[in-house]
Amino acid sequence: MAFFRQELAIDLGTANTVIFKDDQVILDEPSIIALETKTDKLVAIGNEAQLMEEFTPPRLYTIRPLMNGVIADYDAAEKMLTGFINKAIGRKTGLARSVFKPALKIVIGIPGGSTPVDMRSIRDSSSHAGAHDLYMIYEPMASAMGIGIDVTEPNGNMIVDIGGGTTEIAVISLGGIIESSSIHVAGNEITTDIIDYMNQQHNISIGRTTAEHIKFSVGSVLPELPQEEEPAPFVVEGKNIVTAHPATASISYSEISACIDKTITKIESEIIKVLQRTPPELYSNIVRNGIWLAGGGSLLRGIAKRFTDKVNIQFRVAEDPLKAVARGTCLALKGTDRYPFLMK
Ligand SMILES: Nc1ncnc2c1ncn2[C@@H]1O[C@H](COP(=O)(O)OP(=O)(O)OP(=O)(O)O)[C@@H](O)[C@H]1O
Ligand SMILES: [Mg+2]
Repeated sequence: MAFFRQELAIDLGTANTVIFKDDQVILDEPSIIALETKTDKLVAIGNEAQLMEEFTPPRLYTIRPLMNGVIADYDAAEKMLTGFINKAIGRKTGLARSVFKPALKIVIGIPGGSTPVDMRSIRDSSSHAGAHDLYMIYEPMASAMGIGIDVTEPNGNMIVDIGGGTTEIAVISLGGIIESSSIHVAGNEITTDIIDYMNQQHNISIGRTTAEHIKFSVGSVLPELPQEEEPAPFVVEGKNIVTAHPATASISYSEISACIDKTITKIESEIIKVLQRTPPELYSNIVRNGIWLAGGGSLLRGIAKRFTDKVNIQFRVAEDPLKAVARGTCLALKGTDRYPFLMK
């Protein structure tokens, strides 16, 4: 019975956590919590905690428990996961928890580069968060499934998932990952590039929240975009680093493409390295199938075109790329008896 047995598919990302239940997104919030400094008591979680980020008085602090896709702060991660799971299954208080203890089956995505220690901390914190039946799936496998690829066929497909903390590149065939790379160069580094650029070129000091706004509004990896894709310049309001006077600057997408170029080039080079290691038959499949982009970083304007021109293989951005992993994890949840690549 649904009430006693609940099933969740979770993408616990460095930047965002997405949870599917009954084939629907039931939770999509930033991976952050706010705690009381003295007691470490949970004050807020997800969206609510993000509003407090960079605004906390000494009595409170916010923390993002994942770094580079894996758990960096175990206690905080457990608090966050428990909070998100409770929200997803509508479990409110400790009392409700003890009265209604639904059997909880969970499939959770883990980065391709997870170590046994990383896997263990996911397993432990999920079990403390109430999971009775836990399966783990490598995130590139999940995003491939989420994109709609039949991962069990003898057919090579390449996925590039540019998340917050990591970019995962993987070649998948016959239900396995044949070649892969996981680098700690992704959305967070792009945000840092923008902060540094505003500092150095415009003498304006901005926080991460403002830098992310700039990235979403005028983020581009090409200095010239087709006219219909060109965003209007973004007006930044910040603080002059020398005078401390209020300062404004109008930032164009071409400026952003220049300031994040080095970081994008690192991702490009890593894709090429993985292609170099890919066996020839699988390589031919990839040339025919094209390469899929997923994760929030794939929303940068011009990215498919830039990579296609660089690598000479067609790149495409997945539909709703921020949810590809969670969607695939949700498909895996329905076939836990069928998919040998799921890990207990
Ligand atoms: N429209 C956008 N343009 C550019 N970047 C974006 C956009 N939307 C989201 N991002 C960036 O995407 C990143 C988050 O992506 P995603 O949710 O896929 O990461 P994650 O799964 O939480 O992280 P990881 O996979 O590294 O654990 C953030 O760095 C965010 O700033
Ligand atoms: Mg991710």
